[in-house]
Amino acid sequence: MDWLLDTIKSSVGKKLLMAFTGLCFMGFLGVHLAGNLTLYGGKLLFNAYAEHLHALGPLIVVAEWVLLTLAFTHVIAGATLFYQNFTARPVRYEASKSAGGKTLASATMPYTGALILIFVVIHLINFHFVDKTTTTIYDIVTTAFSNPLYVGFYVVMMAAVGLHVSHGFWSLFQTLGASHPKYFPAIEKLGLLISVVFGLGFGLIPIYLSVFI
Ligand code: HEM
Repeated sequence: MDWLLDTIKSSVGKKLLMAFTGLCFMGFLGVHLAGNLTLYGGKLLFNAYAEHLHALGPLIVVAEWVLLTLAFTHVIAGATLFYQNFTARPVRYEASKSAGGKTLASATMPYTGALILIFVVIHLINFHFVDKTTTTIYDIVTTAFSNPLYVGFYVVMMAAVGLHVSHGFWSLFQTLGASHPKYFPAIEKLGLLISVVFGLGFGLIPIYLSVFI
């Protein structure tokens, strides 16, 4: 057990935890996006999808607890690393500019991460922990996106998600040791592609619903 505690306490251990939990989140985002695309199919399709999901019963409850544990681990490890870097080096550490050069995404990781955390809390309050007895999840989502302020909030937050994922993807490969310069361009391109898919994929849904529904 000592090795586990030592790993968690070390910076490398925390980075590994972040890489693993981040990868799991990208998996979740991919599945969540695929499910949300059924919103384009209208009320019947989206509600049917949500019902199928909830029909999984205990499996969904387990998945939610796993997700919560991953989120907690990712946030705590990230916040601890940010705090340690911040207090250890009054003059910014050059290596933090990362081997791929400092980018907007890499420089804003803690801030986009904090924004996503705030977003997820608001998102869950509005769409998950909501009374669905007298309405349907489709009506809840479309009513929310009939408010332009809400649409604007989502679009900005999805840009934060895209930015966070674009560097997170690259960073997780660094942590896992796949940092050979030969693979940099391919990893960067793939990270960019995934971030665009998530950013645009999630971001266009509120716009579509607010304009066409
Ligand atoms: C247009 C964008 C999005 C829409 C329309 C959307 C829609 C929804 C809906 C309707 C639910 C509730 C499902 C239910 O309880 O029946 C949900 C749950 C959830 N969403 Fe989203 N979502 C979006 C983007 C995101 C993003 C970007 C994240 C993460 C960064 C996210 C994280 C979650 C989580 C963690 C849950 C709870 C999952 C569960 O416990 O079942 N969502 N979302």
